[in-house]
Amino acid sequence: MTQIKYRKPSVSDAKSICSLVKNNEPLDKNSNYLYVLLCHHFSDTCVVAEMNSKVIGFMTGFIPPKYPQTLFVWQAAVDSQYRNKGIAQNLVSHALDQAGSEIKYIEATVTSSNKASLRFLENLADDLKTKFSLTPLFSTDDLGKEHEPEDLVRIGPISRKFMEVTV
Ligand SMILES: CC(C)(COP(=O)(O)OP(=O)(O)OC[C@H]1O[C@@H](n2cnc3c(N)ncnc32)[C@H](O)[C@@H]1OP(=O)(O)O)[C@@H](O)C(=O)NCCC(=O)NCCS
Repeated sequence: MTQIKYRKPSVSDAKSICSLVKNNEPLDKNSNYLYVLLCHHFSDTCVVAEMNSKVIGFMTGFIPPKYPQTLFVWQAAVDSQYRNKGIAQNLVSHALDQAGSEIKYIEATVTSSNKASLRFLENLADDLKTKFSLTPLFSTDDLGKEHEPEDLVRIGPISRKFMEVTV
């Protein structure tokens, strides 16, 4: 298989990210403008996976202002034909590497029905040889009754010696 390149997004990647969001249920849809902003202001904590110059996966994240040691993983998607090859896990590993050595925790929210999402985060915690916890965070009262509750995944503390970024 042609090698996958992982890199920070630029503003010109926003449209590809937005179409991956549209084509990959159950991600919440947002405007192209939001992804332009993320690619512009948060490129250090977002990653795209590219194959033959095509974006086949992405991860968006940020460092919450109140928690400067945490990388919060917001959305991630991998084109269906490339799934279950560790690409989502690699995307987050690259974001961790890009985000800097002060990051000690990864957080994300997952719905209980999204088994692939839960699994790739568990695998990441295993590879980082650290703890994985899952606790309720946002209820349907917070999110609206059409949205499943979102549980908080917390991974860490992370020791840099266990980080291995796949090129
Ligand atoms: C979630 C998603 C990003 C994972 O991408 P990926 O590159 O396939 O992830 P990885 O290959 O790193 O890991 C997937 C793991 O989940 C497992 N998995 C996949 N589907 C599963 C299911 N239905 N039940 C249990 N495990 C499942 C895979 O076997 C793999 O684990 P393994 O390596 O231990 O076998 C991808 O499935 C996706 O784009 N889904 C649609 C969008 C989405 O739900 N995004 C996440 C919410 S923000």
